[in-house]
Amino acid sequence: MRSSQTDEVLAGLRAVADGPLSAATNMPPAMYHDDEILTLDRDRVFARDWVSPGLAAEIPKPGDRLTWSIADRPVFCVRGTDGLIRTFSNVCRHRMMTLVDGDGTGLRITCPYHAWTYDLEGHLVGTNHMEATDGFDEADVCLPEVRTEVWQGWIYSTLNSDALPVAELLAPMEEFVARYGVPDYVPVHRQDETWGGNWKFLVENFMEGYHLPVAHRSTLGTWMPMDSVVFPDRRHEGFTYQMFEKDENAQYGRAHRDNDRLEEPWRSTTFMPTVFPSHMYILAPDHLWYLSLRPDGVNRVNLRFGIALAPEVHASLDDPEAWITEMIRFFTAVCEEDRRVVEGIHAGSRSPMASPGPLSWLEHEIHDLMGYLADRLA
Ligand code: FES
Ligand SMILES: [Fe+2]
Repeated sequence: MRSSQTDEVLAGLRAVADGPLSAATNMPPAMYHDDEILTLDRDRVFARDWVSPGLAAEIPKPGDRLTWSIADRPVFCVRGTDGLIRTFSNVCRHRMMTLVDGDGTGLRITCPYHAWTYDLEGHLVGTNHMEATDGFDEADVCLPEVRTEVWQGWIYSTLNSDALPVAELLAPMEEFVARYGVPDYVPVHRQDETWGGNWKFLVENFMEGYHLPVAHRSTLGTWMPMDSVVFPDRRHEGFTYQMFEKDENAQYGRAHRDNDRLEEPWRSTTFMPTVFPSHMYILAPDHLWYLSLRPDGVNRVNLRFGIALAPEVHASLDDPEAWITEMIRFFTAVCEEDRRVVEGIHAGSRSPMASPGPLSWLEHEIHDLMGYLADRLA
């Protein structure tokens, strides 16, 4: 049963989301600090919509796998011998041990506890000392499978058998994303971190460009002419985006001379989608970096941060290791700038004197996020 206080917060959210951006304030502190809202986030958002554990190119060979979790269910994604990527519950069917940690590869998955062994389609194919167990037949046992689709190079998984196919949900932005050729981008870095803030603060922070010239003034904050920003002309159910140009001072973000996929003005345009609830990326002609996140209580967020290079950029590097190390250093510094503000907002919004303030037109996506959350939670 939902408390009346939660009902009131969600009714307020609905009203602000349905009004114009010019009259909108950001979400009230309860949306970020209330355990009841967090439970709704899990059950009505993360358990119902698509999340992305990463790029398909991060697990290129049969047996390659990576781990993630969806609405508190640990899962792993693995590429089968048929080339398809599948997602399974990462919990052994014997005594519920976590099967795999982190990344790995192998044509079999063997539980570290008593060595029950599964194939890449989740079937139990090996046990020992089970011959005296009544009615036990390996052939009856399989890991629960989670619905998985690959779209424009991204893995998406959902617990919801009724969710729209990803290609249908994201169809209105396909004409933008498809230009860049994400499936050919070469992954060069991925790291998982935990920050001290509610997951929604990080989504909001990554989406909006208003903070770039200020919070990122020492890194990439000065590369984007703010008058070049374009937003969707209507609200879409499952995503939002912005796109902007990068000027000639930009160290990263413009097409390599060997890029023959993009015409002007796309050669200097960055497309920045948010697939609700938790997958965001900055897709530039020469590189992409992405964030995929999941709540860890109201106060913490687990995030996956990855970088990939356009193929011609990767191919042109004389000293790939040094160049990539420098790029990772640069984007890690940008992330650190974001961590400071996300943790700062989280701390500030706990004050009884905190109240939601009015939004800038550059915070368009925050208003879209409110609409999405009102649809799901209210
Ligand atoms: S819990 Fe996995 S084999 Fe026992
Ligand atoms: Fe930022």
